[in-house]
Amino acid sequence: MTTKGKASPYLRNCWYVAGWAREVQRLHMFRRILLGEPVVLYRKGDGTPVALEDRCMHRHAPLSHGRLQGDNIECAYHGLVFDPDGACIKIPSQDTIPPNACVRSYPVAEKHRWVWIWMGDPAKADESLIPDFHWMDHEGFAWRGETLHVEGNYMLVVENLMDLSHLPSLHLTTLADTAVPENEEFPVTFETKGNDIHINRWVRDVPPPPYFRLLGDFKKGDRVDRWMDSHFTPPSFVRIDIGACPAGSGQLDGDRTGVQTAMNLNAVTPETATSAHYFWAQAQNFSEGDESISEVDFRLVHDAFQEDLSIIRGQQENIDLSPDAPRLNLAADKGGLQATRMVEKLVREEQEAG
Ligand code: FES
Ligand SMILES: [Fe+2]
Repeated sequence: MTTKGKASPYLRNCWYVAGWAREVQRLHMFRRILLGEPVVLYRKGDGTPVALEDRCMHRHAPLSHGRLQGDNIECAYHGLVFDPDGACIKIPSQDTIPPNACVRSYPVAEKHRWVWIWMGDPAKADESLIPDFHWMDHEGFAWRGETLHVEGNYMLVVENLMDLSHLPSLHLTTLADTAVPENEEFPVTFETKGNDIHINRWVRDVPPPPYFRLLGDFKKGDRVDRWMDSHFTPPSFVRIDIGACPAGSGQLDGDRTGVQTAMNLNAVTPETATSAHYFWAQAQNFSEGDESISEVDFRLVHDAFQEDLSIIRGQQENIDLSPDAPRLNLAADKGGLQATRMVEKLVREEQEAG
């Protein structure tokens, strides 16, 4: 079976991560291109985050080049002033303000250490739809995260995260040992719940992988049951639970509280059709206040992601050169293909709905 590589259009009526909460500050504006649109982010005096179109309606100067006047922005070019709702409230060169003088204002929300943005119909923005990333707020978990810039379409990152078969090959020196080898005894299971896709793989009664011997409590000679459990929420959120427990302790069907788990948390926001902002964090419940464990875990995954981003940069270059070149799909591509098809279906439905 073959498919053709192409950039996905964007789903608009959903939340995307616009930035880390720590990046969005009072008395400071910053510009970020999101879904092909320029956005300026800052906080009002009361701490509420604001996201406005970063393109003055007058002559398209970036508002982020201007000055904050309290909660309002004065454009650097000719001094038009816009309030946090995007309405123009002052034009220095004339008394009348045309009724259409405004920039777009986007709904924003702050949750799980990130500032989220809704770039579709503002009337549909519902904070209860923000995907669950509570591990960054959970007192039992230590975490560390960062933003990476991707020189490729955001769905190439989703496809990469949903494909664990590349670990032994691409991440030979970093994450290869966390990969659970596929075999008939311990098959991969796929499950779709609503729009979410869940890929799970358990391996029972094996020696603890070096990853858990390095970071956690398991010693050489122990036997463990281990899992790699990936959960995709459209359009671009992937949470991977990588864990191990003493062999035979029954965690497969039961409560995983108290077992050693590392959560790999990923939110990818399109920048343009060929680039993306990759917000990710690594959280683990076995560091017990030892920051060096969080640091080693973060560094390990960071180094692996550099290997991924290098491949993705090359993939995008090849796609740009020959967008219609065929692609060969293997059995291990099932998760990535399901995610891509789900996003394409949702985009299609959204566009048909108007
Ligand atoms: S471009 Fe902003 S005031 Fe003229
Ligand atoms: Fe990878």
